[in-house]
Amino acid sequence: MAEFSKGLEGVVAAETQMSFIDGAKGILEYVGIPIDDLARNSTFEETVFLLWNCRLPKKAELDAFNTDLRSRYRIPAELTSMIQSMPKTAQPMHVRRTAVSALSMYDPSPNGLDSAGKPDIPAMRSKALNVLAQIPTIIATFDRHRRGLPVVDPRANLAFAPNFLYMLNGEAPTPAMARAFDICMILHADHGLNNSTFTGRVVISTLSDMYSALTAAIGSLRGPLHGGANEEVMDMLHEIEAEAKKQGKDVMDYIEPYIMDKLAHRNEGARIMGFGHRVYKTIDPRATFLKTFSKQIAADTGNMRLYEMSSKIEAIMAREVGAKGIYPNVDFYSATTYHSIGLKLDLFTPMFAMSRTSGWAGHCIEQVTDNRLYRPAAKYVGPHGAPYVPVAQR
Ligand code: ACO
Repeated sequence: MAEFSKGLEGVVAAETQMSFIDGAKGILEYVGIPIDDLARNSTFEETVFLLWNCRLPKKAELDAFNTDLRSRYRIPAELTSMIQSMPKTAQPMHVRRTAVSALSMYDPSPNGLDSAGKPDIPAMRSKALNVLAQIPTIIATFDRHRRGLPVVDPRANLAFAPNFLYMLNGEAPTPAMARAFDICMILHADHGLNNSTFTGRVVISTLSDMYSALTAAIGSLRGPLHGGANEEVMDMLHEIEAEAKKQGKDVMDYIEPYIMDKLAHRNEGARIMGFGHRVYKTIDPRATFLKTFSKQIAADTGNMRLYEMSSKIEAIMAREVGAKGIYPNVDFYSATTYHSIGLKLDLFTPMFAMSRTSGWAGHCIEQVTDNRLYRPAAKYVGPHGAPYVPVAQR
């Protein structure tokens, strides 16, 4: 029996060909290609093909993949009605989790197993593509519903990123905005055996279905220690602004006391959101890219103050806790980027989930291709031979 490792830290629990991470050197590669190269040169669709096939597509393959994905953008009419009947106050991640789960009911054969009860890989890929194509439609439909606006149908002549922004805002985004969003999608697509990916693999290892695995993964991602951190980064920036104003201080002068106070309460669980990572002990390579990128987009959209605040927080954190290996993670600068694109705060985590669906689905297929049911052991630390005391005598 292996040693107990709290949080499974350091435990190797799967083999994958999808992404490679070197946490000490700050390297992330998808199928061997550095994340920086992909962010600069690829598209989200091409990256998904890469992750699902472990190679880059030829031109005709990419065209066919794009056409297939775009032909699936539309969600069932019943699901549109269901979303429109949801409380306008609902959290988008809860809506997304419920809607992905509901999609299984509109699939005539949701299980993804062949007649012999074995995983049917082409069927699973098709289900994964459906969910990936329809998540933007689900999120945009709910966002417009809660704003009291009519639903905007998807446009099959638009790529994944611009189509989402078009459905959300009712007008096609500028090429720069669409590209910014596309890059965020590439950067978040896969990341080894993170908590939500592990969750998806655990569920699919029972030979459950793709919808159940993706629904569970969404539940994992929404936690503030995982994907929910990008929203908390923005909350923190807003809190600093509001508190500085209340105290009549310049916001840039208020950052230092704010961060130092949080760090002083670290032992009571206080955290600077967007910093630290279970794997990276140097700057997260996605954050390196997003830092430069968010500066440019913040300048283009009049959000330079947020960028400067983030940069100052990073410098204080490097001085105070850099030696402990606590550096910005992907969520830190993605918060400013999403804000600059004009996305509402509570859509940040669903955006992360939108992209990560590709990684989750790829891992699920990888898992069932060489499956072994996940069933770790727990180390029992309770008493033995305890007497049963009748209720009246307790
Ligand atoms: N702010 C302040 N101190 C921190 C932070 C932080 N963000 N992160 C870690 N530390 C400190 C802890 O106080 C602890 O210090 P100690 O050794 O003096 O007790 C030490 O670093 C280790 O912290 P752990 O929480 O045990 O490290 P773990 O590997 O479990 O942490 C985690 C990883 C959960 C991401 C953590 O860094 C954190 O809570 N960060 C803030 C939330 C966040 O940004 N999450 C997004 C992660 S990336 C993603 O999921 C996409």
